[in-house]
Amino acid sequence: MQFDFPYLYKTLIVPNFVLKISNMEQQFSFNNELSGKIALVTGGTKGTGKAIAERLLNAGATVIATARNIPEENSNIHFIAADLTTPKGTKTLVNEVREKFKTVDIIVNNLGGSETPGGGYEALTEEDWVKTIELNLLAPVRLDRELLPDMIKRKSGVIIHIASIQGKLPLYDSTLPYAAAKAGLINYSKALSNEVSPKGIRVLTVSPGWIMTDSSTQMVERIAKSSGSGTEKAKESIMNALGGIPMGRPAEPKEIAELVGFLVSPRAAYLTGTEYIIDGGTIPTI
Ligand SMILES: NC(=O)c1ccc[n+]([C@@H]2O[C@H](COP(=O)([O-])OP(=O)(O)OC[C@H]3O[C@@H](n4cnc5c(N)ncnc54)[C@H](OP(=O)(O)O)[C@@H]3O)[C@@H](O)[C@H]2O)c1
Repeated sequence: MQFDFPYLYKTLIVPNFVLKISNMEQQFSFNNELSGKIALVTGGTKGTGKAIAERLLNAGATVIATARNIPEENSNIHFIAADLTTPKGTKTLVNEVREKFKTVDIIVNNLGGSETPGGGYEALTEEDWVKTIELNLLAPVRLDRELLPDMIKRKSGVIIHIASIQGKLPLYDSTLPYAAAKAGLINYSKALSNEVSPKGIRVLTVSPGWIMTDSSTQMVERIAKSSGSGTEKAKESIMNALGGIPMGRPAEPKEIAELVGFLVSPRAAYLTGTEYIIDGGTIPTI
């Protein structure tokens, strides 16, 4: 049998080579797709925010993480300290961002959480409500209001709001104010998108289910200790309280970060005004 080398070369070797090069180019551009962009991640020193900050850094962005306490590890992520539950804290952050970086292309409003006690509406004080709404709703509203005028001037920018499935699936025992604040955030995010998308700014919401952050690990350990069960049983009890997670496990922070990494990239150029639920199937309805 004779090999037709010119034919083989044309049909197999050259296309494979071109395919390899184009895959490499694709890989290359994915890895650097945020090069030249400045991204600000609130609550960017722990849990989900830390994973998001690292993901954006890996995609080539200059990343600023903000939180109240300086992170222990040194990294290439810039850090600015501010308490974002007050207008003064937001001003401190914005002034330092302007001074050091001039402008921001991507805002990831990741900061949020709940520290209210169990026991339903009766157990909640005025302070519980105000603190939770400041942290989950007013902090992103204030930050967007400060940074949007510059984005509008440049006709470009992406804003992500990290909400929660509790915006749609409220749990009343211990997170009533949190669920209400996240529902407000989802609504605000949509309305803001309607207003500023025609001006070149994309606004999106990411609503995670349970995420296995360090604080989740600590919560599991606390439940395991107080109930005398193992950590697996404690995890199961949390999943049961959510009505079960079809994927059988909470999300890893990096899985949320991957979605955010896509949404802020040029690959998501036509996406705005939408909410992305990432919950392993937890919400049981369409
Ligand atoms: N974890 C989950 O299961 C889950 C589920 C659904 C949605 N989410 C949402 O995902 C987002 C991230 O949650 P997470 O659990 O990953 O957070 P986390 O691990 O508790 O980290 C919170 C971050 O925010 C900072 N922070 C807290 N209070 C602050 C304040 N007043 N001012 C400025 N920074 C502050 C913290 O640093 P300092 O303490 O140093 O300030 C830290 O960097 C939140 O919006 C949360 O609602 C989480």
